[in-house]
Amino acid sequence: MIKSVLITGANAGLGKEAARQLAQQPGIEKIYLGCRNRDKARLVQSELEKLSGKRIFEIVLIDVSNLDSVRNAVAQLPACIDALIMNAGGTGGKHFNEKNSEGVTQIFAVNLLGHAVLTEELLKANKLKYVALYAGSEAARGVKEMGMKRPDLKTSSIEEFVSIGDGSFYGDTHDATIPYGPIKYMAALWISSMARKHPKIRFITMSPGATTGTEGFNTLSPLKQFFMKSMMQAMLLLGKVHRVETGAQRYIDGLFNDTYKSGSFYASQKGLTGPLGEQGLIFADINNENFQDNAYQAIQRFIK
Ligand SMILES: NC(=O)c1ccc[n+]([C@@H]2O[C@H](COP(=O)([O-])OP(=O)(O)OC[C@H]3O[C@@H](n4cnc5c(N)ncnc54)[C@H](OP(=O)(O)O)[C@@H]3O)[C@@H](O)[C@H]2O)c1
Repeated sequence: MIKSVLITGANAGLGKEAARQLAQQPGIEKIYLGCRNRDKARLVQSELEKLSGKRIFEIVLIDVSNLDSVRNAVAQLPACIDALIMNAGGTGGKHFNEKNSEGVTQIFAVNLLGHAVLTEELLKANKLKYVALYAGSEAARGVKEMGMKRPDLKTSSIEEFVSIGDGSFYGDTHDATIPYGPIKYMAALWISSMARKHPKIRFITMSPGATTGTEGFNTLSPLKQFFMKSMMQAMLLLGKVHRVETGAQRYIDGLFNDTYKSGSFYASQKGLTGPLGEQGLIFADINNENFQDNAYQAIQRFIK
């Protein structure tokens, strides 16, 4: 029975909506709002309390791009959690391609490295009981509609995954949508590797699908922002994008419905919305255990 959940990036977009929906689930006693900014977190905490009529939201300060902050958050977490939603992420801010002290790009740190360390630290401290859900993306298999190519890995070796982490895989770019897909792809492989290493925890990657009403594109360059937002508006009109309630509902389903199998990556079967499909059945490389373990090993190289 899931009674307590930690959500990273809970002050906006899908994370905040997931917190709102979770509060309506029977049996939920505690929702930890993992946020990097205390003021934003307090505002959201009181908004969620008003909306739900429940005082079950507790703030956990965590900047997932900073490993000290991640470790500190685990130490500060007052109790063990039943489930984790690794939602913080997106395009990595204005300096997405700059490397940090671990030698990874900001966009890699926020989408993957921080969550890898968070999960490992929770497990080491015996503070995670049942489910770990990662916010994946259809970008992991490329998104034609938005001009995002399918990640083109040559060997899927540890070295190649290291190059996704340090940014050399895609080189010097000003477009955050270029590294985003390969990072989300690697994250899905990492989740599958973790599932085999920790069979008592259900590890899944769940894409929320193309979702409007979030702040996801706000730190892209003005031109790219204009392009992506116009594209989303057009796609909403065409019914090819859904609202934040629907995107967040996928997280909730992933947590509570254990027919979503550990180690699997679920995303829209076709396009960016609609019924979910297991991606490993569509793209065999997702289920390649060597690739999964190489992704895991590459992440370990960056953890001191
Ligand atoms: N929206 C979509 O269409 C879509 C599709 C597929 C996958 N996703 C994935 O879904 C997740 C949520 O996306 P969204 O659209 O809801 O984005 P969003 O509205 O931009 O929300 C992102 C959240 O992550 C937080 N965050 C960013 N960097 C952080 C850090 N270093 N430490 C802690 N928190 C941090 C943000 O906090 P601040 O307010 O402090 O910046 C915010 O709360 C992302 O992982 C994204 O890749 C989204």
